[in-house]
Amino acid sequence: MSNIGSLEKRIKNFDWSISEKELDYKDGNTINIAWYCSDRICQMGKADKLALIYEGFGGVEKEYTFNDIRLAGNTIGAFLRNLGIVQEDRVCLFMDRIPELYLSFLGVLKIGAIVQPLFSAFGEESLYVRLENAQTRAIITQRKHLSKVRKIIDKLPSLEHIIIVDHKESKSLEKNEVPFNLEDATPIEDFEIFPTKANSPSVLHYTSGTTGQPKGVRHVHYSLISQYLTTKWILDLQDNDIYWCTADPGWVTGTSYGIIGPWSLGITQCVLNSGFSAAAWYKFIEKQKITVWYSAPTAIRSLMKAGDEIVGKFDLSCLRHLASVGEPLNAEAVVWSEKVFNKQFLDTYWQTETGSIMITNFPGMKIKPGSMGKAFPGIEAALLDPKTFEPFTEHGKIGLIAFKPGWPAMMTTYWNNNEKFEEKFKNGWYLSGDRSSIDNDGYFWFTGRDDDVINTGGHLVSPFEVESALLEHEAVSESAVVAKPDEVNMEVVKAFITLKPGYEPGDELELKIMNFIRKKLSPLAMPQDIEYMDSLPKTRSGKIMRRILHAKEWGEEIGDVSTLDNE
Ligand code: WT7
Repeated sequence: MSNIGSLEKRIKNFDWSISEKELDYKDGNTINIAWYCSDRICQMGKADKLALIYEGFGGVEKEYTFNDIRLAGNTIGAFLRNLGIVQEDRVCLFMDRIPELYLSFLGVLKIGAIVQPLFSAFGEESLYVRLENAQTRAIITQRKHLSKVRKIIDKLPSLEHIIIVDHKESKSLEKNEVPFNLEDATPIEDFEIFPTKANSPSVLHYTSGTTGQPKGVRHVHYSLISQYLTTKWILDLQDNDIYWCTADPGWVTGTSYGIIGPWSLGITQCVLNSGFSAAAWYKFIEKQKITVWYSAPTAIRSLMKAGDEIVGKFDLSCLRHLASVGEPLNAEAVVWSEKVFNKQFLDTYWQTETGSIMITNFPGMKIKPGSMGKAFPGIEAALLDPKTFEPFTEHGKIGLIAFKPGWPAMMTTYWNNNEKFEEKFKNGWYLSGDRSSIDNDGYFWFTGRDDDVINTGGHLVSPFEVESALLEHEAVSESAVVAKPDEVNMEVVKAFITLKPGYEPGDELELKIMNFIRKKLSPLAMPQDIEYMDSLPKTRSGKIMRRILHAKEWGEEIGDVSTLDNE
């Protein structure tokens, strides 16, 4: 049985108070995400139910019940509190997908501090920019990532504590570094959770824009109201489900639907901390008897590439349905996965800024392959005319995807950058920065982004960040970075550069430049290709026209070049 019932009926009578009631929340009450994800589930009689099934490299397995995660959250929270971390301090999580990452997420929130999860694959420069922006006070990390922190600590006066979760006695520590091994710590039974309110800050996720540094998207504890209900109705999680969200919590999917949604519903979830391979993924589903799977279109396209035959080698009959987010889910991928898995495949659309799913397919709803589905109940979505910022009154046109502010998981600002936050609104609408059309049945059909941000395998890459890294190399005079088509990742990063006098283009120089920028960028943002140019296309005012380079890569019409400087 599905949680959904009649979608139409739900939309008609919808009110976010449905979620508030189920969570026993009333306006003005205390609301703490970590309490909802652990203590409350234990109070509801599920203390001994598995919360987390973890599988790491080399087949290491660990299991945690809801009582275990409650205690771990308390223990980590107490440790941080003893260090002097208080409410609204920023605590960064810089770890691979090991259990401590998930448990620390709860610990930080339990003391009312703000959790700042960052991909452990980030190089020191990417890490520095984000820690500096947030004025982060503590970072929880692993020994293997410590060298990156050590390289930048002198430039970060606010960063007072570096907490290492897998420290070995034999290794020496430096100033500000403290060991904390959860397995050796005495579990704390009774803990005073900080009484956060609806508008208390909770999670700070960094996202890339076209220009400027990455922006810190500030979420609040009230976001739970959206995350809980969307998880329940869209992912349709039920008590006996075994859920797998493949996203890293460095990405908002990995927190909203990889921690908060499932745990606030008391659902068992699995984490696989190893690289991608089709066989390993299928084996994991079979072994753990995963019933609901939330992933990214790139993963599906990679599975598609691995072929149909390998699917038959595993028993995947445990799956009930699958969902994805992050980038366009092409119709072929929907058709393919429905064929090989024989289950519905749900595309969902949202953003770091929206905090929860906005446009979506539901279990049981008619799926039109290639469409993102319809607006979630309570979400007022429209397509705005790009010229007037007024909603289109007729269907069939491509417009800017916009939402009426007011859903619970919406960001409250960009950290330290309220100006950029204000720019996201026009005529009372929140502008997503994406374009779409809508058909007569109310289904949205994504057509592209409204800016130059590159979406590679579901990860947003700022062309500006890559261009800046390139410009720091002594040989590079100018750079322009655009998306290039790719079969699996949809888009990959391509860089165009011009050289300073005295430098010769060639493979050797390309390798040197690549090695230089690798230290500054996340592996996801690394260009797949660097092309040397004599000059870059520019406007008369000297602005590089990425649009022209983009059109060339995609074999598209170049469009209006009246501002191009041909000299
Ligand atoms: C951007 C947001 C929220 C978790 C995902 C990433 C693109 C997202 C879809 C989809 C086409 C999609 C949009 C959006 N995107 N979902 N179903 N179809 N495009 O969050 O890193 O903030 O990226 O990802 O361009 O604006 P994010």
